[in-house]
Amino acid sequence: MLQGCVGVHWVVAGVILQFVAGCGGSGVGGVGEANVASGGAGTGPTAVSVAADSVESGKPAYPIVRYVAVPQLSRDLAIFDSVFWEPDDTLSLRQKIAADPQLRGAAVLEVGTGSGLVSLCCLQAGAGRVVATDLNPAAVENARENARLLGFGDRLEVRRVPRRSPGAWTVLRPDETFDLIISNPPWEDQRPETVEQFALYDPGFELLESLVTGARQRLRPGGRMWLAYGCVTAIRQIQKVAERERLECRLLDERRLEELPDLFLPGLLIELAVPAGG
Ligand SMILES: C[S@@+](CC[C@H](N)C(=O)[O-])C[C@H]1O[C@@H](n2cnc3c(N)ncnc32)[C@H](O)[C@@H]1O
Repeated sequence: MLQGCVGVHWVVAGVILQFVAGCGGSGVGGVGEANVASGGAGTGPTAVSVAADSVESGKPAYPIVRYVAVPQLSRDLAIFDSVFWEPDDTLSLRQKIAADPQLRGAAVLEVGTGSGLVSLCCLQAGAGRVVATDLNPAAVENARENARLLGFGDRLEVRRVPRRSPGAWTVLRPDETFDLIISNPPWEDQRPETVEQFALYDPGFELLESLVTGARQRLRPGGRMWLAYGCVTAIRQIQKVAERERLECRLLDERRLEELPDLFLPGLLIELAVPAGG
């Protein structure tokens, strides 16, 4: 999935060191991969950028494997090694976010943020505050770094989910609720072996189950949950759990499940909500 990149880029405690030789390629679905050597779309970091505290701190470093331009965002995103990148997953989700008037000032939760792509689109669209979680430590740092680069550092809080308790709500306070909960979670019912595979595999659909069964408790009145899934088996499971939990469940897509292969792209958007009157 990740394409080769000649340049070597490292983030040390939230700061970028670049030894640039070039990184190119064409993006998918309107998301372009930046040419790092020329500063991407004119918005990427300059060739060498080092903050004093990063060098002194000696904290864990994550290589940056590419820069990507995202239509909804004002500058390129950095993508760290081992962090998920497939923008086609969230095409409909990001379009919906950009066009949603209710997002202004909203409190948003994103479960499984990766590079921070979708959370940052929410902030760009006017969300008041976003809490984002991920189980991959590199993703936690990646989302924080991208928020800092985009000037959203004070409105995005990224929390790390421990691998031993990977439920959707593990790192939330008991009373925390949101106007919008979003997730492009892993889609396939398989057991992950590596931290990267947690982006793809949800064994026994445990995360799916946890997201849907917790929606009622975590959504504020009138709140919505938007899930992006490109797997028919998973979507049918969501419909089943939503019915059991007495949640409204709508597929915001013109494609018909019966006509799709089990795994497909772009991801399909599903909206869950508590029905009026509970
Ligand atoms: C398909 S990727 C999506 C990443 C990002 N939202 C995007 O659209 O580019 C799923 C993400 O969920 C994370 N993840 C998997 N299981 C998780 C869990 N139980 N809690 C939080 N994050 C999880 C993975 O590490 C990965 O970053």
